[in-house]
Amino acid sequence: MNASKQTHKHERYEGEYPIVVEGLTNRFGPITVHENLDLKVRRGEILGVVGGSGSGKSVLMRSIIGLQTPNEGDVRVFDKSIIHAEPDEQIGVRDRWGVLFQGGALFSTLTVGENVEVPLKQFYPDIQDTLRKEIARYKVLLSGLPEEAVRKYPSELSGGMKKRAGLARALALDPELLFLDEPTAGLDPIGAAAFDRLTRELKETLGLTVFLITHDLDTLHEICDRVAVIADRKIIAVDTVPNLMELDHPWIQEYFNGPRGRAALTAQALDELRKHMDLPIAQHAVKALDNASSTKDKA
Ligand SMILES: Nc1ncnc2c1ncn2[C@@H]1O[C@H](COP(=O)(O)OP(=O)(O)OP(=O)(O)O)[C@@H](O)[C@H]1O
Ligand SMILES: [Mg+2]
Repeated sequence: MNASKQTHKHERYEGEYPIVVEGLTNRFGPITVHENLDLKVRRGEILGVVGGSGSGKSVLMRSIIGLQTPNEGDVRVFDKSIIHAEPDEQIGVRDRWGVLFQGGALFSTLTVGENVEVPLKQFYPDIQDTLRKEIARYKVLLSGLPEEAVRKYPSELSGGMKKRAGLARALALDPELLFLDEPTAGLDPIGAAAFDRLTRELKETLGLTVFLITHDLDTLHEICDRVAVIADRKIIAVDTVPNLMELDHPWIQEYFNGPRGRAALTAQALDELRKHMDLPIAQHAVKALDNASSTKDKA
């Protein structure tokens, strides 16, 4: 491969569905994780993916990015089949997404900056050292980390900073698609909310499409345009949170309308109301909701 080919940037995808999953079946021995699963992700949306632990969210993500070859079905990214693609053609797609894996998976012997440089070296080996370091530094700052984090090792970072470092690496190649597997797991609520805001801002400023696996109800309410629910080995629904809450499915009802679901909804209502604190009715409602949630916390 010559250098000009390697540094060639693709036209951005302008179609409606950058990710299309059709008839996906994944089995591990006797266990069927997915059976005839369909999903379409819209360009420019943050799609939340929820489901019980072990329902197959991470396996779905791995199937989409070509790390898990399914038993049946097809996965197309930017209208190209990931499963039947020739290796060279796959490369053309693989440098167009970034992934933050569940658990982060930074290289512990490399600094944050060097971690971000890894995909740059892999896909653009001809970029000069100084430029590559500069790109990495920019991505670290873009992810909301301070300048000095570039030279730190993962073991010197807090959990929230590690997630941001993982995000910086996922953004290294200016992706069009961003895959996030449980990005706010293990963060305190303030750190999680900050990460959510960052995800939303990056989506808006960089025009990303985001595939976001999460258990975090606040995240679903705050930043997801639509949410896909995995249950019974399929995607049983894809819709906005308010529309999902209307559905008569036991898992969905328990998840969104259970005590934790309602608390997340109250938190979101409070946020909205606080934007209108000049109105007496909003002040009154905020006080009432605050009181209601603090009584519940004590109960
Ligand atoms: N490589 C593998 N070999 C065998 N079984 C696997 C493999 N990867 C996943 N599984 C099984 O597939 C099922 C789905 O796993 P997956 O990791 O997708 O769940 P999940 O929905 O992401 O759960 P969690 O919310 O806990 O992260 C589980 O039963 C898991 O044990
Ligand atoms: Mg998982």
